[in-house]
Amino acid sequence: MPRQFLIVTQADDLHGLAVQAAVRQRGFDCHIVESDQVTGRESVHYAIGNGETGAAVLRTSEGELVDVSSVEAIWLRRFGMDQQLDQADLAESHRALINNDCLGALVGSLENTFRGKWISSPRATQYASNKLNQLAAAHRCGLRIPDTLITQSPAVVREFWTRHGGRVIFKPLVGAPGPIVLTRLVREEHLQSEDSIRCSPAIYQEFIPGTKHIRLNCFGNQSYAGLIETADLDWRPNLEVPISRWPVPDTVHGDIRKVLDLLGLEMGIIDLKETPDGELVWLEVNPQGQFLFLEALTKEPLIEHFAEYFTSA
Ligand SMILES: Nc1ncnc2c1ncn2[C@@H]1O[C@H](COP(=O)(O)OP(=O)(O)OP(=O)(O)O)[C@@H](O)[C@H]1O
Ligand SMILES: [Mg+2]
Repeated sequence: MPRQFLIVTQADDLHGLAVQAAVRQRGFDCHIVESDQVTGRESVHYAIGNGETGAAVLRTSEGELVDVSSVEAIWLRRFGMDQQLDQADLAESHRALINNDCLGALVGSLENTFRGKWISSPRATQYASNKLNQLAAAHRCGLRIPDTLITQSPAVVREFWTRHGGRVIFKPLVGAPGPIVLTRLVREEHLQSEDSIRCSPAIYQEFIPGTKHIRLNCFGNQSYAGLIETADLDWRPNLEVPISRWPVPDTVHGDIRKVLDLLGLEMGIIDLKETPDGELVWLEVNPQGQFLFLEALTKEPLIEHFAEYFTSA
């Protein structure tokens, strides 16, 4: 039987489909389990007790059944989003039950039967998705991080803003599915919006100057990065700017690896910014970030690199 690999992701995920094709190209079996399509079909089967030792069988995107114990590595790309439910009139409580139980069954059956390599484990992915945990880990590893405040207090934000000469940004702490919430400079009038500040804790950070934004893809023991050169505070809305490969120095890879190891992550997509003095500042890690756009713009074959990494597990 060919070697078996599994990608857990949402339906029609381009990253998942591209990596599946690259893994199959190598002559291996690569299945996708759609974590938002568990509902409405017989997707998860797990049995334990009364002679059963605990075995899980999952339905793939192509309708086949895969025995989890035969899988060598799982790329846990996307999980935890809502199920794709057809019934528009479902009560909120029913919807919540379906979402929670589909997720619980999928993740629980994998966690209890899979013996191979996780990229990355559900626990580490969840823990590392909280930017507070990331910042603390990067700080512990000795990386430079922006001076950071997480608060709901208008008075404390004002004091922080004054201390940094009005050069302060804000961005979400955990974020939510849906449209991107861009990083913004805190202006004086924002400080008057006390109800907004109290609404939920947010990240307030010292503004890191510069025009060099680095997007680093760490896949196990290798890192590949792109340099995005723009004066924009947030590079995401406009990619019509110079973007090139950024060879990753060994020391930078080593530092990043230390942080990922501390967080328990196998891979990570890291945002860094280089100051005009040439110092690299850690901004964040996406345990499962986008990298296809960088392949298109820099010609670095990231899908191939990823398939190589995934199958050499
Ligand atoms: N402290 C900062 N100083 C200057 N620019 C920053 C700072 N923090 C973030 N940025 C810029 O904002 C953009 C988004 O940054 P970052 O990835 O940290 O935000 P995010 O909201 O956490 O993103 P994600 O949605 O990927 O989780 C990048 O262009 C980054 O360079
Ligand atoms: Mg980011």
